[in-house]
Amino acid sequence: MHRARLYRSTPFRLALTFAVLFVAAFAVSGLITYQLLKRDLLSALDRAVDDAYAVTASTYAKDDVEDLIATVEAYSKLRSGSRVFSLVDQAGRRIAGNVDAVGLAPGLSTLKAADIGVEGAADFRVRAGTVDGYMLVVGQSFEETDKLEDIALISFGWALVITVFIAIAGGTFLGSRAQARLDGIVRTMVDVSNGRMRARIPLRGSRDDIDAVSGQINHALERLANLVESMRQVSADIAHELKTPLNRLTLTINDALARNAEGLSVDKQLVDALAESEQINATFEALLRISQIEAGGRKARFSEIDLLGILTTVAEIYIDVAEDHGQRLHFVPEITQSCVVQGDRELLTQLFVNLVENAINHCPKGTDIVIGITGSRHGCTTTISDNGPGIPAAERDKVFRRLYRLDKSRTTHGSGLGLSLVRAVSDLHHGVIRLADNGPGLRISLTLPAAAAEQN
Ligand SMILES: Nc1ncnc2c1ncn2[C@@H]1O[C@H](COP(=O)(O)OP(=O)(O)OP(=O)(O)O)[C@@H](O)[C@H]1O
Ligand SMILES: [Mg+2]
Repeated sequence: MHRARLYRSTPFRLALTFAVLFVAAFAVSGLITYQLLKRDLLSALDRAVDDAYAVTASTYAKDDVEDLIATVEAYSKLRSGSRVFSLVDQAGRRIAGNVDAVGLAPGLSTLKAADIGVEGAADFRVRAGTVDGYMLVVGQSFEETDKLEDIALISFGWALVITVFIAIAGGTFLGSRAQARLDGIVRTMVDVSNGRMRARIPLRGSRDDIDAVSGQINHALERLANLVESMRQVSADIAHELKTPLNRLTLTINDALARNAEGLSVDKQLVDALAESEQINATFEALLRISQIEAGGRKARFSEIDLLGILTTVAEIYIDVAEDHGQRLHFVPEITQSCVVQGDRELLTQLFVNLVENAINHCPKGTDIVIGITGSRHGCTTTISDNGPGIPAAERDKVFRRLYRLDKSRTTHGSGLGLSLVRAVSDLHHGVIRLADNGPGLRISLTLPAAAAEQN
């Protein structure tokens, strides 16, 4: 990845921020540890100096300074360099020891090596005190503690360098991995905006947050692709389907013009042209109505609707229409009380009218049409069945498409939008429609969720 882009990427910046915080936390805790160690070493040194002083001073017996002098001399020789001793008499002369330490205040103090005439850079921690008028000074060099502190500092320094390296390398690695996945999302979106509707974000199957977001985007893209595809299909179907009536209209008008030129009556041609244009108009209105229903705006007008009531009205109206067509319509509800759903009365009425009209229009004389309804706690199921020609299983999904009609129905009146509207209204009400073989005939069932079970 280009370096400038890596620096701008959010995952990399996040990783780097955490790396910096991690290093800072490490530095602070290291500093605290170092200070504690330093304090501990100093108090250990103080204890060692105090002990050495006490041991040396304890060799003094009353009025007998010889033992003390001998001890100081012996110790001075034993550990020259790291430990220093000095015994000074009342006159200020050194009578034993390996350094000159005069005029020191009693107690613990830190002296430079040069102050006591010793070579080397390390300071000395010394305890001074008087033993029966003699000034006894015992001291120990910081050399050992300095060494330990140096070792601690060097180890800490190396650990810091390694931590910084690991933090930056790890941050870059993790950052670029997350960035690569975000790049995958961006690439897919660019593909889609360039018209490649089938492009999808590759999923890793790790179920992490990026996978979850990618899955949702893929889902949305799937819906978008289907929508675009169906719009394309519908546009093509509309153009194709309107060509025939428009051609017929043109022919009728041409015929009328020709007859008019010959002075013949054009009444029939005008009536035909009017009927044709009304049919075209009705098709457009139905298409617009389906689009409006699909847009979902009518949901705002939903109220509690009794399906039994609607079906009773539809059955009452169509019983005579069916009779006029030489058919019999039977209304056999399996419930006596209302079955209530949340919905739009006008649309639901239209839905059942379309189904009953289909049975009347697409079935021959002598057909029995049965309207039924059952209800449960979960919803209402309505059925419209007939013993007509039915719809072949392979066509049952297709008949819901806009303008789709079975070949055998092409000659009958209609535009192939009735079932599209049924599907749009059912979807708006979260309904489930099933087309089945009625052996013989068609059985259409629609289940709508009960008013209380309705979620949205
Ligand atoms: N009860 C039925 N029996 C047999 N075929 C049917 C039945 N109902 C619908 N169909 C078939 O399904 C097709 C689509 O029905 P749809 O209601 O969408 O359109 P239509 O009835 O032809 O026209 P429109 O309803 O727009 O006047 C019909 O053309 C017909 O071939
Ligand atoms: Mg119809």
